[in-house]
Amino acid sequence: MKNILVTGGAGFIGSHTCVELLNDGYSVIVLDNLCNSKEGAIERIKTITGKELKFYKADLLDMKATEKVFAENEIDAVIHFAGLKAVGESVEKPLEYYENNIGGTFNLIKAMKKYNVKKIVFSSSATVYGVNNQVPYTEDMPTSATNPYGYTKVMIEQILHDMTVSDPQWSVVALRYFNPIGAHESGLIGENPNGIPNNLVPYIAQVALGKLAALRVFGDDYDTPDGTGVRDYIHVTDLAKGHLAALGYSEKNTGFQPINLGTGKGSSVLEVLHAYEKACGKTLPYNITPRRAGDIASSYAQTDLAKNLLNWEAKLDIEKMCQDSWNFTIKNPEGM
Ligand code: NAD
Ligand code: UD1
Repeated sequence: MKNILVTGGAGFIGSHTCVELLNDGYSVIVLDNLCNSKEGAIERIKTITGKELKFYKADLLDMKATEKVFAENEIDAVIHFAGLKAVGESVEKPLEYYENNIGGTFNLIKAMKKYNVKKIVFSSSATVYGVNNQVPYTEDMPTSATNPYGYTKVMIEQILHDMTVSDPQWSVVALRYFNPIGAHESGLIGENPNGIPNNLVPYIAQVALGKLAALRVFGDDYDTPDGTGVRDYIHVTDLAKGHLAALGYSEKNTGFQPINLGTGKGSSVLEVLHAYEKACGKTLPYNITPRRAGDIASSYAQTDLAKNLLNWEAKLDIEKMCQDSWNFTIKNPEGM
């Protein structure tokens, strides 16, 4: 297996995965419409690795453009990152989210069928564990969602599962990411949110830069050790390596397999804030505010399945995640 199509490869997790793929000797073909990323990310992947990759600026909703990528390349497997990912925006624009994420996946699957490509690694999310399961989350728990973004992940997992039932040669690995943060240690690629960030670490980074006044800590009365929300943060480089392990698995196995990618360890909002203070060498102001609607107290992974099936586990700790986030932030204060 050599030629990998990476949809959404110019984005945050996709770009880091392209780096690991190229470093491991794969040929990489990226399809991205750049709706949430820039072509500069592709150049930076080349700079980091010293290797070439093929880039198609194309939209998965454009069937012709999608098929062209398959027609022009001998694709062995697909890693499917392309999608819209902002929870709040998905509540405001549900049709856009269902159309882009599910419609885009339909076109991708149709092209895969036509060109006889039967291996796919899909970017799912811990959001599919919904609000009723107990931590640590295990892959056999029932899935559900509370917003359109989450429903697109639940539905796409179901669609891909059904592909493996209809054709037993299909191999699908649905990677359920916990909270990816950090950046490549070169500081050349990282997370590039538009406007005011919704997620914790990009928000703290802006406070550390002095662009935002203070972190709002959404609630300190949760049933957690310090009362603030607990999440399983995972370094994006560890996460990227998990995709290579998943490709290896899909080479030897067929069927539908969901797998958690997390560290198995939860950190609270205040623990992350303090790790970031250490990384940037400043005290960072914060205020306690009411809980954010839809948030849960704790989310972290049971990681045994990834260890057993993929022989993969996360290695980098919260300090390193914050150091690499800060390194990227100071090198790219206006984003990439
Ligand atoms: P990102 O927005 O940085 O990357 C997604 C990429 O897909 C972008 O480059 C965007 O331009 C592209 N894209 C979107 N729609 C497209 C379309 N129709 N055609 C072609 N390209 C399209 O996001 P990310 O953080 O790298 O996330 C990648 C995947 O992982 C997404 O599917 C996301 O839902 C999932 N995920 C992310 C997180 C997270 O916290 N970042 C957590 C769980 C799951
Ligand atoms: C959110 C999404 C989730 C998505 C994930 C990654 C919601 C409800 N969930 O998860 O579906 O998969 O992002 O994109 O939006 N926090 C603050 N102040 C802030 C920001 C966050 O205190 O300014 C707290 C939150 O309450 C939470 C923790 O920090 O306890 C992490 O928040 P965030 O980074 O947004 O991730 P999730 O809520 O886990």
